[in-house]
Amino acid sequence: MQLGSIRLSLRFIFPVALILGLLAYGVVPLVDDMTLRWFMRDLDTRSQLLAGALQSPLQEYVPTRDKRKITQLFDRAIQDERLYALAFCDASGKLLYKTKTYPTSLACLEPGDHDAKRSLLRLPQGSMHVMESPVQIDTQYLGKLILVHDMKFIDHRNADARKYVIALFVVLALIMSLLTVIIAHLSWRGVIHAVKEMLRKDARRRSLFGFNEPSSANIQPLVGDLRAMLREFNADQRASDDTSHMWTPEKLRTLLHDDLAGDEVLVVSNREPYIHARTDKGVQVSRPASGLVTAVEPVMRACSGTWIAHGSGSADHETVDRNDRVQVPPGRPSYTLRRVWLSEEEEQGFYYGFANEGLWPLCHIAHVRPVFRSADWEQYVEVNQRFADAVIKEAHTDDPVVLVQDYHFALLPRMVREALPKATIITFWHIPWPNPESFGICPWREDILEGLLGSTILGFHTPFHCKNFLETVDRYMETRIESEASTIFYGGKLTQVESYPISITWPEHDSDRPSVAQCRSAIRQELGLPENHLLALGVDRLDYTKGIIERFQAVERLLEQEPNLIGRFSLVQIAAPSRSSLDEYQNFEARVRALAERINQRFANKVCAPIILKVAHHNAEQVNDYYRAADVCVVTSLHDGMNLVAKEFIAARDDERGVLILSQFTGAARELHEALIVNPYHIEQGAEALHRALTMPEIEQRERMRSMRSLVKDFNVYRWAGRMLLDASRLRRRERIMHKIHSHSHQPLRRVV
Ligand code: G6P
Repeated sequence: MQLGSIRLSLRFIFPVALILGLLAYGVVPLVDDMTLRWFMRDLDTRSQLLAGALQSPLQEYVPTRDKRKITQLFDRAIQDERLYALAFCDASGKLLYKTKTYPTSLACLEPGDHDAKRSLLRLPQGSMHVMESPVQIDTQYLGKLILVHDMKFIDHRNADARKYVIALFVVLALIMSLLTVIIAHLSWRGVIHAVKEMLRKDARRRSLFGFNEPSSANIQPLVGDLRAMLREFNADQRASDDTSHMWTPEKLRTLLHDDLAGDEVLVVSNREPYIHARTDKGVQVSRPASGLVTAVEPVMRACSGTWIAHGSGSADHETVDRNDRVQVPPGRPSYTLRRVWLSEEEEQGFYYGFANEGLWPLCHIAHVRPVFRSADWEQYVEVNQRFADAVIKEAHTDDPVVLVQDYHFALLPRMVREALPKATIITFWHIPWPNPESFGICPWREDILEGLLGSTILGFHTPFHCKNFLETVDRYMETRIESEASTIFYGGKLTQVESYPISITWPEHDSDRPSVAQCRSAIRQELGLPENHLLALGVDRLDYTKGIIERFQAVERLLEQEPNLIGRFSLVQIAAPSRSSLDEYQNFEARVRALAERINQRFANKVCAPIILKVAHHNAEQVNDYYRAADVCVVTSLHDGMNLVAKEFIAARDDERGVLILSQFTGAARELHEALIVNPYHIEQGAEALHRALTMPEIEQRERMRSMRSLVKDFNVYRWAGRMLLDASRLRRRERIMHKIHSHSHQPLRRVV
């Protein structure tokens, strides 16, 4: 039985049981006693009246000893069904007259006693009410009249009365139970309403005064319960997701094999997953700092296929075959990396210019103005065509599955569609999509939208970005949009716009990896910090969208407000150099360095600097050690599609400790509700969040971390890719059926003979 119906039944049964118990042990005996008393009083009165009525005939007959008349008198009197017997005893206590019914055991009771008296006697005939009434003429005492009433009728009446009382109470119990259920139901609705109202007010208050602000006192006890309930609810929802509970590389492979009939998968991105560089130690391979690469690489390992990307490493040329292909990952090859070469001019216009000075600031609301140059646009168009040609060349069939990655290739979907109309093109936009007004400033907005609408599926991280995209298309193009189904019909083709929140690979347990305790002390030693030094960590590309300046300012404010932390706390900022030949990035790096220096000078301490800035590329293992060594991970992006650092930190903390501070302007904030969510522009709020994170009880850290870990584990990158591929296979099936229907309807009609 469900919990709800058990509760309902209890609510109903409890009052009934309570009332019936009360009835059995209290009310029924009380009613018995009361009715007995009433009837006794009634019998007393009756006996007295009767005795009074018999007084004068007896005064007449007794002195004359007229036995016949007295017997007649008595027999007439006992015709009343309740009067059982009559007798008369003389003054000496001798029984002179009696009816036949008079119990012999009674005789004359106490002969010396002349007063009126009443007693209750239990005789062999049953319970009897016996009244003795003196008969006298003036003061002369003649004897006493004994009236015996049968009490059986009282028992009957008592039984009747008991029946009525029980019936009354049962009805009452039912009414009360029903009322209890109704009131409980109404008050539960009232409680829900009140809780909602409280939460709404609290959210309003926290948005005004800061998301770090603890919930108000009257709501705090509820928060834990609600969180637990939500977790349960989310788990249920997840379990009943259309996909299975746990996505693995094997599952993804099976999906490709079964649902996509082993179709080939081609990935296109600007950034390559493996960069070969010439160094003093010879050719070395590295993985770039890119959320896109972090996510797509494990998917490619699972799917095999070909990844087409810009060969940007200094030794990339040397490591490919004559078709510009190289098998990766090095040492354990499982897919092909096909490199496309760009001239400096092309890279400048396509990558630095249009993609990173135009589209990047256009889509990220970080208050950096986008720059649009016609020359850059031309390169962008050309390079998109180069990559599209590479896709067409790499495809072995006329209907490959092409996974197009990011804002570098907005035009490529249509270019591929034109050459391979049957291809399934899944484009994923890894960065935010702005509102129509913001997007509208791009001089080539229609071309970009038209290019993207060559996709079968267009994916974003959040439903909000999807909504922005649909509105942008609605504003600037003539299309048919089905908002409910989230589809756009354009040029005879349908594009499905969906949200697929990207994620990471869940790390397998590796007993060779250093423990959290080892990482903690190794990193502190490496940085020259004492064992118990408090450490916050930031891991980003050196990019103005990441909120690094605001993060440093929050540290400064924290130390102003909590001077006891000076010398006891540091923020380690790992900043991977990025797009460094652009002015905006150079300026940003200079600002970051200057601010770190200023803050460090201000809070100079013999033990340590409050900000430890490491502008260098760190490999995944090094970053992982930092994640495990840190007390707090700080993600304060001003705008971010998803932000995988947040998810990586959670995955690294198998000790279920550590606190995540997360900007409300990241896609990740839509999923990781147990992080301390902040508005990075609000410096005081950032400082408060840092303080709260550094002083958070371990039990709370564990509770939050556990919940986020279970979410990231389930919603891993294989699910991200799997959901897109499942949708693609569904659309492919539909296309094929439509194609068949279409070709049948165009066949010439055969004559039936
Ligand atoms: C973001 C973009 C990726 C890009 C990455 C690194 O995550 O969405 O497409 O690869 O930044 O930037 P970079 O310009 O170095 O490739």
